Amino acid sequence: MNLLVASERRWLDVTVGVLLSSLLLFGSLYIIRLNNDSREQQFDNELAMRGQRVSTEQGCVACHTVDGSLGIGPSWKGMMGRTEVMRSGTVVTVDEAYFRESLTDPSRKQVASYPNVMSRYFLEEDEIVALLEFARQLSLVE
Ligand code: HEC
Repeated sequence: MNLLVASERRWLDVTVGVLLSSLLLFGSLYIIRLNNDSREQQFDNELAMRGQRVSTEQGCVACHTVDGSLGIGPSWKGMMGRTEVMRSGTVVTVDEAYFRESLTDPSRKQVASYPNVMSRYFLEEDEIVALLEFARQLSLVE
């Protein structure tokens, strides 16, 4: 009787062990997949990657974060399509035209609660297009 119970017990241990190991395995695979997906979504094209390089070369990243955290200027995460209140009280939606204007004439529309410290940038058209794509990609990810 005792022998039977002991062997049933062992089978139970083995089954639970196998179940737990597969859970761990599939759980890890799932998390690895999720991470890859988000990375792909963020930089799924050459242009956005070029934009990221331009933002580093031009030093934009010194003041603009790309992950939503605080910086000297507004974060670029979720920037495109976001509404911003200006110092003058008007509300602006960040779109391509405003992005371009912010580059060449940043003090024309001053985002409220940020300092007027951004200098004017006269970049090549292909650099601006790349920056815009980078900003768009950053606005797609959650
Ligand atoms: C010295 C810090 C600094 C640097 C460097 C800088 N910015 Fe800015 N930027 C700011 C600040 C501060 C604001 C918000 C105040 C304003 O509207 O000028 C801003 C605003 C902006 C806006 C408007 C964003 C919004 O949410 O309304 C855009 C677009 C922008 N910057 C793009 C750039 C790009 C592209 C570069 C690099 C080529 C760059 N910035 C470099 C400080 C900086």
